[in-house]
Amino acid sequence: MLIRKRRDWDLPDKAATPESIFLNRRSIVKGLGLGVALAGVAPVAGVLSGARADDDGAEADPTAGLYPVPRNDGIALDRPISPEDVATTYNNFYEFGSHKEISSLAQKLPLRPWTVTFDGLVEKEQVVDFDDLIRKMPLEERLYRHRCVERWAIAVPYSGFPLRALLDFARPLGSAKYVVMQTFEDTGFAPGQRQFWYPWPYVEGLTMAEAANELAFIATGYYGKPIPKQNGAPLRLAVPWKYGFKHIKSIVRFTFSEERPVSFWEEIASNEYGFWANVNPEVPHRRWSQAEEHFFGPDGKEWRPTQPYNGYGEYVAGLYKGRENEALFM
Ligand code: MTE
Repeated sequence: MLIRKRRDWDLPDKAATPESIFLNRRSIVKGLGLGVALAGVAPVAGVLSGARADDDGAEADPTAGLYPVPRNDGIALDRPISPEDVATTYNNFYEFGSHKEISSLAQKLPLRPWTVTFDGLVEKEQVVDFDDLIRKMPLEERLYRHRCVERWAIAVPYSGFPLRALLDFARPLGSAKYVVMQTFEDTGFAPGQRQFWYPWPYVEGLTMAEAANELAFIATGYYGKPIPKQNGAPLRLAVPWKYGFKHIKSIVRFTFSEERPVSFWEEIASNEYGFWANVNPEVPHRRWSQAEEHFFGPDGKEWRPTQPYNGYGEYVAGLYKGRENEALFM
């Protein structure tokens, strides 16, 4: 049994995690196996694209030799980097449990083989092995802030490649308006996915303009090494101007669509978690203020003011011109 250690900066789970909210009828219907297809996404076979579970989840990582990669100093960080042991042990990854201490459970995630599917509105559908894909990408390191909707924040070194490079590889059609990303689905090693009331698999989406923004990044590495399983190995999204729940982990599929997807948390509670999810200190969550964040720094916890777009407005504010009437900050 997992013993939950509560730290004094935690919001009580009931207040902070979307888990405790009243589940809507769609989720329950889906959980009962009468599932609804996500808007614009072809139904998925519900498999981890050929990944194989082994007993301890430990495999040699053939990409380890690619790291460290050159740092892109063009994107400045206004704070020190968070300790690696905090960033790799205080996690959200509901596939492995609805609490923060999932790092050891996540070691069951089998990473090889790992294929990534590109489908929907693309010139040609492709299923690509991750170890081949990463070698086609321009690798760099970026220091990014990360702000969870629950108010905790970290600053971390991601290695990986711009999402824009992946778009070039996928060759979406001009009619594509959204890129929809999906996490693996396998109850064999992901105990959280046995909780049928969640609308598995985890799905997130971006507009094509957001995906092409220079900040949108696919992280394959963390702290100069391959990214750990608990942080979304072998590839996860990093869009630092948005709340953390947009940062979908362990992606197996990119689907290009004309229709806006309904993401995991939006499907559970559309009145609390929307499509845009841009960080904004002035718009409180329905159950707590977003004015401040609790930053995990080298000297411990520290409360800091939240910044609009998590401090990245100069890069991304222009994406939302003309959308002022939409709920851009949930
Ligand atoms: N991706 C998947 N597949 N499942 C999840 O539960 N949680 C999200 C995001 N990506 C989540 C996910 C949330 S709420 C946050 S804050 C970040 O992952 C946490 O990333 P980290 O654990 O690497 O800090």
